Amino acid sequence: MKMAAHILIVLLSIISTLVYAYDPSPLQDICVADLNSEVLVNGFVCKAVEEVTANDFFLSGFDKPSNTMNKVGFNVTNALVNQIPGLNTLGVSLVRLDFAPYGENPPHTHPRATEILTVLEGKLYVGFVLSNQNNNTLISKVLNKGDVFVFPIGLIHFQANIGHTPAVAISALSSQNPGVITIANSVFGSKPPISDDILAKAFQVDKKVIDYLQAQFWMVAHILVVVLFSITSSLVYAYDPSPLQDICVADLNSKVLVNGFICKAVEEVTANDFFLSGFDKPSNTMNKVGFNVTNALVNQIPGLNTLGISLVRLDFAPYGENPPHTHPRATEILTVLEGKLYVGFVLSNQNNNTLISKVLNKGDVFVFPIGLIHFQANIGHTPAVAISALSSQNPGVITIANSVFGSKPPISDDILAKAFQVDKKVIDYLQAQFWVNA
Ligand SMILES: *[C@@H]1O[C@H](CO)[C@@H](O)[C@H](O)[C@H]1NC(C)=O
Ligand SMILES: *[C@@H]1O[C@H](CO)[C@@H](O)[C@H](O)[C@H]1NC(C)=O
Repeated sequence: MKMAAHILIVLLSIISTLVYAYDPSPLQDICVADLNSEVLVNGFVCKAVEEVTANDFFLSGFDKPSNTMNKVGFNVTNALVNQIPGLNTLGVSLVRLDFAPYGENPPHTHPRATEILTVLEGKLYVGFVLSNQNNNTLISKVLNKGDVFVFPIGLIHFQANIGHTPAVAISALSSQNPGVITIANSVFGSKPPISDDILAKAFQVDKKVIDYLQAQFWMVAHILVVVLFSITSSLVYAYDPSPLQDICVADLNSKVLVNGFICKAVEEVTANDFFLSGFDKPSNTMNKVGFNVTNALVNQIPGLNTLGISLVRLDFAPYGENPPHTHPRATEILTVLEGKLYVGFVLSNQNNNTLISKVLNKGDVFVFPIGLIHFQANIGHTPAVAISALSSQNPGVITIANSVFGSKPPISDDILAKAFQVDKKVIDYLQAQFWVNA
C-alpha cells in the first residue's frame, strides 16, 4: 500500500509537470485569428480554414527601418498576432528593433515571453536582472553584428546602442502576444498615478523627486507599449517546460536525464551562457541540396534551457532548398535578410493536404505552424539568407525524404511500394540515393 501510494505521488507529480508553458497549444492545423470577431477567448477565435490564404501567415517590410526620432531613440516593428493573424495559438512572434546612435530600449519585461535577439547592424550593450532571490544580479554583455543573446521570460532587461551609427536587431519572442511592461512608464507613468507617498517610500527619495519623475512620463508612455491585452490569462499551455526559477542554464555535461537539461548553479552562470556569436557568417552550402543551417538552440546556448524558443540562420545557395521537413516541437517564423524564397506548408489530411505557399522577398516574414510539412527554396540566382525563430529550445527536424527513404534499417520496400503506389524498383532506387540531412 505504501509503495502504491508512493507511485501515485510520483505519477501525480509527473502529470502536474506535463502542464506547461505559455501560449495555447494548437488543437487543429491552423487557427488564423479572426481579428474582427466580437467573441473573446484566450487568443482569438479562428477564421474558417476555407477562407485562409498565404497572406494570413505573411508580413512585408521587415527590411525597412522604423522612425527612431523620439525621446529614447528607439522603435519597434512588430510581427505579432495582430500583424500576422496566422500566428494565433502558435506561441512565437518576431520584432525588428531600430536604435538611433546611442538610442535605447529602456528597462522592460515581457510578461509572457522569453526573447532571443540577433544583431544585424551596430553594437548593443544588453542585460537582464535576476530576481530578488538571486540578489538582483545583472547579467550583461556587449553584442556585435552576428551575436545572439537570450532574455529569460519575465525578467527586466534592456538594450542600448553604444555606437555612433544606427543599430538593428531581430528578436523572437515565445508568445504570439508577448506584452511589454516598460518599468519607468508602469511605475511613474500609470494612469491614475501610483501615490507619490508609496513611490517615495519605495525608492527612498523625497516626494518632490517622484512628482518630477511622474511629470516626465505621460508623454512617452505610448512609445514602447505594444499590444497589452489579456495579460491575466491564467491558462497554462504549450510546448517546452515553463521555467520554475529565474534561469536554468543547461548543464550539458550532466549524466542526469530530465525533460530538457538539469540546471547549473546560479552562482556559476555568466552572460556567455546566454550568448553566441557568428550569426552574421554564411555557412557552407556546397552540398546536394545547396542549403545549410546555423543553430542557436539549447546545445549552442545553454541559457535557453526551459525557455521554449531558439533561433536559426538559414543559408541557401542559388536555387538551393531546405527540403520538405517538419519540426515536431515548434512553430517557425522566418524573415528573409537577402534573396528571394519560395516557401510553403501543407495542411493535414483533414484539410485536404492544401498547400499554402508564397514567394518571399527581402524583409518579408512568414509562419510555418507546428508539426506541418514545409519547405523553403531559393528561386533566385544569388545566395539567400533567412533568420528563423522556433518555439522550442530543441525543435527537432524530421526531413521527410530521409525519414521515409533513408531510415536505418530501411522501411520495407513492400510497405513503401504500397504507400506510394509505385513499383518496388522505384522504391529501391529511391532508398539507394544519398539523402542529405538538412
Ligand atoms: C515608430 O516607427 C513608425 C514607422 O516608422 C512610426 O509611424 C511611429 O510613429 C514610430 N513611433 C515612435 C514612437 O517613434
Ligand atoms: C546571494 O547572496 C547571498 C548572501 O550574500 C549568497 O549566499 C548567495 O550565494 C547569493 N546568490 C547568488 C545567486 O549570487
